[in-house]
Amino acid sequence: MASHEGKPIRVALLGCGTVGTEVVRLLTDQAADLTARVGAPVQVAGIAVRRPNKHREVPAELLTTDAEALVASDDVDVIVEVIGGIEPARTLLLSALRAGKSVVTANKALLAEHSAELFEASDASGADLYFEAAVAGAIPLLRPLRESLAGDRITRVMGIVNGTTNFILSGMDSTGASYAETLEEATRLGYAEADPTADVDGFDAASKAAILASLAFHSRVTAADVHREGIASVSAADIAAAKALGRTVKLLAICERVPIGGADDQTTADDGEGISVRVHPAMIPTSHPLASVHGAFNAVFVEADAAGEMMFYGQGAGGAPTASAVLGDLVAVARNRVHRGRGPRESAYAALPVRPMGQTPTRYHISLDVADRAGVLSQVAAVFAEHDVSIAAVRQEGRVDDASLVIVTHAATDAALRSTVDKIGGLPVVREVVSVMRVEGEEI
Ligand code: HSE
Repeated sequence: MASHEGKPIRVALLGCGTVGTEVVRLLTDQAADLTARVGAPVQVAGIAVRRPNKHREVPAELLTTDAEALVASDDVDVIVEVIGGIEPARTLLLSALRAGKSVVTANKALLAEHSAELFEASDASGADLYFEAAVAGAIPLLRPLRESLAGDRITRVMGIVNGTTNFILSGMDSTGASYAETLEEATRLGYAEADPTADVDGFDAASKAAILASLAFHSRVTAADVHREGIASVSAADIAAAKALGRTVKLLAICERVPIGGADDQTTADDGEGISVRVHPAMIPTSHPLASVHGAFNAVFVEADAAGEMMFYGQGAGGAPTASAVLGDLVAVARNRVHRGRGPRESAYAALPVRPMGQTPTRYHISLDVADRAGVLSQVAAVFAEHDVSIAAVRQEGRVDDASLVIVTHAATDAALRSTVDKIGGLPVVREVVSVMRVEGEEI
């Protein structure tokens, strides 16, 4: 890699949507400060877009439709990629890294699928690969995991990493409205995309969970390893059941260390440690710090052996907040080029196996409508005992001709909990399984 002492750092921007436009604005407005912070001017060499006539907000002479040529240009030191999606981003970034050009990307889907080959290319040439904006927008989170906490042992990362779904769940919680009504409102207000699939079905959060787990546990985790459930099946009854117990429903990305081994364990890995990486709705106590994260905000709760508990909170999307994270990375890679430094490489030495969801220890909240007569509770309790699921709390409220029964379990494998719920649903004394949801954020 060439030294850039005093010479400008030349940046190619791939894509110029909401985030890209803000990146160009910040680079222009803060040029003097950035020069002082980096030790050399940071200049835009070109911007690759598909339709140049749609980008009147950036200087026309910088626009090109030839992204490949821009990436290959000798006049470019750093590539900032804000196109999103797998191709052509993957091919362009691999060429850039192989040619020794530093890369800053906000592309969570790409990193969650192809980070191994991107890191390999980065290692081969010694070029930096930074991606703070890929998870939780403006919130400094990946740098703390990759660098500040590199001396600690992280045990769990649990967060709200998708603003659209948090906006919808917050709305359902405050109004009591259904999922469909609240999604419609979120779309009308511009908080949900016209096609909300990536957000509401948990794909966006699953990519972010894969990135977080890889960094936190020094292991390669891809989006395909993540157990994913979205929020479409969360009902007004689930939200009401949570409220009645002092809990609230959030879509959580959870990455945690879990033990592997034991008589009932079907994994083939040797006894030792594995990780669980999952995205699903869960009830958390209203006293948990994540419960007070409302609307489109993101927050991530991190637990580490020495540091204890930490929470990172802020805006997880939007042009300016995401551009802030991109600019932070740009300053870091530019400094590294000027002062011949190098950012952190891939750290996957631990290679912890990802445990299947069925074998992951979790806890359930189950709300039932049952007949109100002698022996009903014991029939229900017998099914739990049969599946070796221990009950932590039971609450029953009698009504005119039936009763509401709420059961919260201790931790058991997800497979055992699912079988328990299936069998209970078939008991003649159970009129309806009103709500089933995992419980997180409290130890019992
Ligand atoms: N669509 C995401 C969200 C932001 O709703 O939070 C980009 O990752």
